[in-house]
Amino acid sequence: MCGIAGIVSKNYFNIIPKLIKMLKNLEYRGYDSCGFAFFDCNSKSITVMKAKGTIDNFLANSRIQEKNSEIGIAHTRWATHGVVNDINAHPHVDCHGTIAVVHNGIIDNYLELREELELKGHVFRSETDTEVIPHLLEHYYRESRNILDALKKALKRLKGTYAVAILTSYDSEKIFFARNGQPLIIGIGDNEFYVASDIPAFLEWTKKALVLRDGDIGFVSRSELHIENYMDPNLKPPELFEVPWNIDQARKGNFPFFMLKEIYEQPDAIQRTIISVSHKASEVAADLLNANFLYIVGAGSSYYSSLYAQYLYAKWGLKSMAVIASEFEDLVGGAIEPNDVILAVSQSGETFDTIQAVKIAKSKGARIISLVNNMGSTLRMISDKSIVMGAGPEIGVAATKTFTTQIASFIVILKKVLELQGIDYERQIQSLQTVPRVLSENMEYFNNRALFIANWIKVKTNAFYLGRGLGQPIALEGALKLKEIAYIHSESYPAGESKHGPIALVEEGFPVVVIVLEDKNHSAVIANIQEMKCRGGKIISLIPAGDTEAQELSDLTIEIPRLDPEVAPMLYVVPLQLLAYHTAVCKGLDPDKPRNLAKSVTVK
Ligand code: M6R
Repeated sequence: MCGIAGIVSKNYFNIIPKLIKMLKNLEYRGYDSCGFAFFDCNSKSITVMKAKGTIDNFLANSRIQEKNSEIGIAHTRWATHGVVNDINAHPHVDCHGTIAVVHNGIIDNYLELREELELKGHVFRSETDTEVIPHLLEHYYRESRNILDALKKALKRLKGTYAVAILTSYDSEKIFFARNGQPLIIGIGDNEFYVASDIPAFLEWTKKALVLRDGDIGFVSRSELHIENYMDPNLKPPELFEVPWNIDQARKGNFPFFMLKEIYEQPDAIQRTIISVSHKASEVAADLLNANFLYIVGAGSSYYSSLYAQYLYAKWGLKSMAVIASEFEDLVGGAIEPNDVILAVSQSGETFDTIQAVKIAKSKGARIISLVNNMGSTLRMISDKSIVMGAGPEIGVAATKTFTTQIASFIVILKKVLELQGIDYERQIQSLQTVPRVLSENMEYFNNRALFIANWIKVKTNAFYLGRGLGQPIALEGALKLKEIAYIHSESYPAGESKHGPIALVEEGFPVVVIVLEDKNHSAVIANIQEMKCRGGKIISLIPAGDTEAQELSDLTIEIPRLDPEVAPMLYVVPLQLLAYHTAVCKGLDPDKPRNLAKSVTVK
């Protein structure tokens, strides 16, 4: 949801090329429009350049690359308030163009503030909520002649969430910043200070970072980093930490798209996750075992992996319920008790719905454990305990490697819980440890089959994804990939449930993707395939290697190596990711920038 970036050079270097690079590194957060504000070394004033569309589009049509500046801010937008056009693009400025603001978040009371400011004579240009911020700053600056003071006063007027970076000709050697409920990270390089929504923005130049907390406010200048907390003046500044990611993880390398790269990275990502989660899982095992009730909460793919955990944990007597984060309050909010445990699952750790669910559960005294991929995330900060996966940065908007690493994490956590009960889970863990190798060995086969099937499915407008038991969350995830990346309306049902209504849609050539696992549900899934097939459904099944019964019934198959039944389903999702990827590419779509989406959804 919107990316913000800022750089100040410590050495009088031109920052424009790096600022563009930073913004491109954040483009996965939104690509409706982009914009820059910088102090122009030639005109000695703040220049704002912005436009609807992607950064590449902007670069092709602007002369920003000819500019020279030592300090600047930038923004890439996922629209919430105001249509997608040039005027609504950030940065937004005050009446005189002397204060430029980039913002991620939503100002809930902007209409009332706008009305108040307009009565005072301020002239607004855009339809955005953000524009009240530069005008409020202009108003309070007139009183105190100090931007930091004006910022504190302005922030007290805002209701909602924000991460902001501000450039002003009143104090043109500083980038001011503040955060409340939206991520903001400071990067400390040898030659620059960076302000960014996420670490990959500056990973190429520094691994030294500080994660700001709610209420943190301050500035970076050529020689200084200043942070104070306006909500709690006694709070010490956040600690510096070393980012454990490397820059190659945040680059496309030889792959045409991040999504494909991240699919292929899964063997390594799972390997790293098994190791990193093993260390932390012991610390949370007792919490899970002794919980009055365990709620596993997530959104999108993180919800589907949570559902996998619910199915898996139930097999071993560990009661839990996977809950869609945005439904948490209505579905279970009233039932939360102090001894309950919330396992909050989120790649980004910034998903608004998940954070809200956690806040509700916290207010009722529940214990919060989070499973995140982003170590500098809000969710991690507000949890009692947190487990960080080792997937590395995920840039593609579609979750891929973080879905399989979430499942790997749940398996490792289960092992630690069962260990406390003296229950042996070694066979499954050994099977999990073979996943990286097995996946690597089969990746090219999966890729070729997926490409072949993509060429058939690309002209279809609907598809079913069916599975039972542990196959059901995999089917849900497969359907989500195809709809979000390839824009094919794909729905997933528990295979048994499909005959209670959805089967009415099946006609000659209707694509039905079926997850056939080697488990107790095998014969039931075979029966469901037959029901679809005799109504004209075209059966694309993912089957255990050598399963001739399923093969003979199917029109197209992908064979999946046989591993332990609790582990094998995570292999099945990989060809489904590749199927969505190739279908999108065959249709001429950009799988890294699906329409209307953004990587992390930090709004309601
Ligand atoms: O960062 P999170 O895991 O909390 O994100 C949750 C969802 O927004 C995310 O999984 C989304 O559904 C992706 N587009 C799935 O590919």
